[in-house]
Order: sequence, then structure tokens, then C-alpha cells
Amino acid sequence: MNVCFIMYPWETLTPASDSTLRLIHESALRGHQVAITTAANLTIRDSVTMSFSRLLVKQAKVPKTPETFYKKAAFKEQMLPLAGFDVIFMRANPPLDNLVLNFLDSIKDEVFIVNDVEGLRKANNKLYTAAMDDAKGSIIPRTFVSKNKEYLKRVIEHEAGDKMIMKPLNGFGGSGVIVLERGARSNVNSLLDFYITGKGGESNYVILQEYVEGADEGDIRVMMLNGEPIGAMRRKPAEGDARSNVHAGGTVHKHTLTPDEMKVCRKIGPKLVKDGLYFVGLDLIGGKLIEVNVLSPGGIVNINRLNKAKLQVKVLDWVEDMVQDRMWMAERRNAFKSAVSNA
Ligand SMILES: Nc1ncnc2c1ncn2[C@@H]1O[C@H](COP(=O)(O)OP(=O)(O)O)[C@@H](O)[C@H]1O
Ligand SMILES: [Mg+2]
Repeated sequence: MNVCFIMYPWETLTPASDSTLRLIHESALRGHQVAITTAANLTIRDSVTMSFSRLLVKQAKVPKTPETFYKKAAFKEQMLPLAGFDVIFMRANPPLDNLVLNFLDSIKDEVFIVNDVEGLRKANNKLYTAAMDDAKGSIIPRTFVSKNKEYLKRVIEHEAGDKMIMKPLNGFGGSGVIVLERGARSNVNSLLDFYITGKGGESNYVILQEYVEGADEGDIRVMMLNGEPIGAMRRKPAEGDARSNVHAGGTVHKHTLTPDEMKVCRKIGPKLVKDGLYFVGLDLIGGKLIEVNVLSPGGIVNINRLNKAKLQVKVLDWVEDMVQDRMWMAERRNAFKSAVSNA
């Protein structure tokens, strides 16, 4: 297969903990043609979508560990047509650049993209999760989204719990996630002003969410592949912090999915697949869905270590199957076309 990774700059990744490196390494171990590029290197030449890529030079013996592989990797710079790849892994860091999606729009019918462009566009912010509940309120915690300050103040006043979570619609990595305590709500006016009013004078949406009990014990990160959980871990917040994100100081612990957690995964799995969100990371607390991470979800390395697993093997196995199916479909169609033409 020809595999392309649209990602952050190679030099900036941390080999010991980087999920994308595991996917690249696994692709190289399987002898695939691997290229990496960044969003800034996408280009159109004479109406063809290309990328200034770094093509991995094939080695007779690919190093066994991702760390040594990273050290020894050599690249050839080359301008390559994106439609020449069998699969593109979209592994750029959030926030998502809409222009990248426009570049990918031009080739999405020709190349299998993980995740699908339409899915990335749909699930680009926390509205995707906020609107995901069923009629029984069993999937996500009670959630309110608005940029109307008076309305948000009323929500804070009238919600029954002692605590609420406030977070920006477009946040990631735990940034801007705070707990509002009932006794200390004198700051609410100022906080809402701060969250709603953006830098350039534009206004932002704010999420208010029921604080899910048990969150101090951490959240559960589940890696989902094609709608099925393939691995999970618990992330516990640092002392004095409400956020479990590893980037915010959270620590990781072994976890086996409970029946409630399995139930949520099973409920939303088919929707994820329908939206082309094949490889995503879910955040769950108390069996409720907190977030669907669709852009370059992390966690492979920690889950591998905790569960003695190799999630990258499952991902590549599945991608190879998908690409094979697509190839057979194309061949079959060509054969049918010839049969009709020659009839
Ligand atoms: N409703 C909630 N109840 C309790 N804790 C929450 C809630 N929402 C978020 N958190 C905590 O904050 C973290 C980050 O929130 P999340 O919605 O996943 O945003 P981000 O995109 O920044 O990761 C969660 O992993 C969890 O630890
Ligand atoms: Mg999260």
C-alpha cells in the first residue's frame, strides 16, 4: 500500500509517547510505501492536489522499536499527487484547519481517508457530542450550549447539582475546562464575559454540562476502530485539577471497560461509522460520553503498555482490509464494464 500521513512536523514528535509514530512504524514494518507531510505542504499543481512530501527511504531491515526506527529514518523530499495513495491518515494536531479539508475534498473519492473528510467536518468541535443524546438522556450528561449570557446564567442558577462544568466549544487538551461550584458563583458574570467574548471581538459558544460524579477518579479513554472498542485506559487528574487529559497532567492507569461503558460504545459505534469516523478516541465518565476525539486521537502508546497490546497492528490490519476491498470493487466494476462493452 501507499500510505500518507498528514501530521505535525516529524522533528517535533516525542518518539517514546507518540501514537502517529506507532502507525508509521507499523506501516514501514509491513513494507508499505510511506510518506509524511504537513498541512502547510499541501498544494495544487496544474489542478492536481499534491503535497511536498517526505518519502520514507525503505530499509532492508526496519528497526524493531519505534524509537530506533525514528532515529534511523531517512526521507527523500518529493512532490507527490495525493490521489496516488491508497490511504491517508489525517494526524494533524487540533484545531482543525478547514483549508486542509478543502484540499482533501478534491481527492476524497479516490483515496481512503482516516477519518473521512465529512466526518472530520461534522465532528470538528464539541457540538457533535453535545447533540448526540438519545431521548432518554442516557448517552451524555445534561448539556447546554449557547452564547447568550443571560440564558447561560439562568442555566447555572436552575441546574440542581452542586457543580457544573464549563468549557469552550472549540477547546482541546483540557484547555478552558473549569468546575463551577454552587457556593462560589459570584465569578459567573466575569467568567461568562471572558468565555463568550473572543479575541477579535467575535463571540464564542460556551458549553455548560452537568458535572458527572466520579470524575475525580478520572475519565476513560476508549480507542474505537470501525465502531468497536479496541482498547481503553483510565486517566486520573492531577491533584487539585478537574481535567484528566494527559496534557493537563493526568496520569494513566489500566482499565477494563464496564458493561455500562460497553453499552455506550455499542450505542454510538454505528453512528461513528456512518459518519466515517473510523478511528476515534472517546472520553467517558460514569458510563456517559464526554467527548468524541476525531482528529489524531492519542493513547496508543499508553494503552499498549498497560494492556500489553499493539493497537497499531489492529489499525493497520483493518486499513489493509478496507483498501483491499476498495481495490476489488474497482476491479470488479472494470470487469463488468468490459463484459457490457463486449457483449
Ligand atoms: N461533564 C463533566 N463532568 C466531569 N468532568 C468533566 C466533564 N467534562 C469534562 N470533564 C473533565 O475535563 C476533561 C476535558 O474535557 P473534554 O470535554 O474531554 O475536553 P477536551 O477537548 O479539552 O479534552 C475530561 O477528560 C474530564 O476529566
Ligand atoms: Mg477530552
